[in-house]
Amino acid sequence: MTGFTITIDGPAAAGKGTLSKAVAAHFGFAHLDTGLLYRAVGAKVIAGQDAVEAAQSLDPSDLDDDSLRTPDVAQAASKVAVIPEVRAALVEFQRSFAARAGGAVLDGRDCGTVICPDAAVKLFVTASAEVRAKRRFAELSGKGIEDSFETVLADVKARDARDMERATAPLVAAQDALTIDTSDLTIEDAIAAAVAAIEAAR
Ligand code: C5P
Repeated sequence: MTGFTITIDGPAAAGKGTLSKAVAAHFGFAHLDTGLLYRAVGAKVIAGQDAVEAAQSLDPSDLDDDSLRTPDVAQAASKVAVIPEVRAALVEFQRSFAARAGGAVLDGRDCGTVICPDAAVKLFVTASAEVRAKRRFAELSGKGIEDSFETVLADVKARDARDMERATAPLVAAQDALTIDTSDLTIEDAIAAAVAAIEAAR
């Protein structure tokens, strides 16, 4: 199955990561969390590097770092993500990943709209800001990061606003995307809905 691409876009903490990993495992496809690219650039900016230079010199090994999962890096990621030159520097890597033989799942914000407009299946995964903040709060608490729920909710909302309002590649569902609202779904139900949509397109 050469170049069969599935895109899964949506706002922060909507369940894209869980869903993408499950879908990739189900179909035996490779998975790219494109948010990690922006997080890796954001982490380099926190360390003092220029954002555009960091994006242009990014190495796949930079993505393999647990410290990219912190709230500070998430905010830095959404700030560098508004810079058109940063986004441009990351396009090629994402497109070649998407085109790999054997199928690929890409999750992020603009995978179905900008990176892979011809993807075989496009999903837009969302949930209310409160539900997403609750999930992120539980995830961070599990890692020993002790932010208050209110802080996590404010972070999620700030990141949503920045992602939706930016001029280049804003967060928006592709016209031909299937939206899955996970607010009231179990993980199993969300996975079943995604798998059914993909099966129908194969
Ligand atoms: O998905 P994740 O929360 O790891 O993404 C971190 C940030 O990277 C997002 O808030 C967004 O600003 C940016 N991003 C993006 N385009 C993508 C993936 C992530 O702008 N395809």
